[in-house]
Amino acid sequence: MKIAVEVKGLRKSFVSGWWKRKKKVALKGVDLTVPEGAFWGILGPNGAGKTTLLSVISSLLTPEEGEVRVFGKDIRTHGYEICRHINLSSGHANFLWSMTVRENLAYYAMLYGLSGRPLAAKLDELLDLFELKDFAKVRFDELSTGTKQKLSLSKALVNNPKLLLLDEPSVGLDPDVARRMRETIRQVHDRNGTTILMTTHNMREAEQLCEEVAFIKDGTIKAFGKPLDLKRHLRLGDTIRISYRGSLSLPPLQDTPWVYALQVDDSSCRILVDDHHQRLPKVLELFIGQEISIQDIRIQESDLEDVFIAFSR
Ligand SMILES: Nc1ncnc2c1ncn2[C@@H]1O[C@H](COP(=O)(O)OP(=O)(O)OP(=O)(O)O)[C@@H](O)[C@H]1O
Ligand SMILES: [Mg+2]
Repeated sequence: MKIAVEVKGLRKSFVSGWWKRKKKVALKGVDLTVPEGAFWGILGPNGAGKTTLLSVISSLLTPEEGEVRVFGKDIRTHGYEICRHINLSSGHANFLWSMTVRENLAYYAMLYGLSGRPLAAKLDELLDLFELKDFAKVRFDELSTGTKQKLSLSKALVNNPKLLLLDEPSVGLDPDVARRMRETIRQVHDRNGTTILMTTHNMREAEQLCEEVAFIKDGTIKAFGKPLDLKRHLRLGDTIRISYRGSLSLPPLQDTPWVYALQVDDSSCRILVDDHHQRLPKVLELFIGQEISIQDIRIQESDLEDVFIAFSR
């Protein structure tokens, strides 16, 4: 397995204030190994250290302690070389306000050495990919938040990065634009095998796009894994709610390891199970065995949002 990013014992602090100096430790020994081609999420509450982590990996900030390697190379000694293969898009990006969308894109593409026909072809490709053609001649300061965001994403692809760092890519986007933006990001990942590290506060977005997620809080990674495994680890489970007619007995479920909680009333029951896809047939077998007539079945799945809340507490 080839490694795209290797972070070991990373510490980073900020010192602010000119009279009374205040020190804030943003990252307190972060370890993370990201394989090439992965699409991972970095989640966590405000101020957890997510943007700081992406900024260090993209060499915008220097590490204070620890080691950061990108495609096997140390960012302290090979920063220039690494920068050719990575790019970052921030949800709060700022561009040269008086230049148009096309001019801004051209500016960044030229920084990576593009000129002439290859430059024009690249700009056309990106304007097309992010549906920016109609805005090509519009000045940055006249754009809506969503269009600025699209420009930020297209700018991040001018160098065909092998590693793409996305800091809250869908912040401020309407649901329709956000969905199309997610599809485009997934397309970039699937077609080019781009390694992507993305921060987001949108848990549905993380669940849809990210194969694995790291939860960061107070500058340390608290948990890491596939969304489903994290749900299992926290025993969050899914609730199966059944309304029925008749006299029900559910003792066989009481000592079952995949049942986390059980509550039976006169005409309804709530069963908290590890995974409803697997367990619903078994639960229904019990009802059928006792010839109980089922009136209604409702399932409430726990999701990454529940995992987020559990880790953020
Ligand atoms: N330039 C800076 N000067 C001083 N403190 C900073 C600076 N940048 C970040 N911090 C502090 O470092 C900590 C981590 O900030 P960071 O921006 O990485 O958090 P985050 O997880 O991205 O939060 P959010 O979800 O709000 O974007 C915060 O306490 C923040 O106040
Ligand atoms: Mg941030």
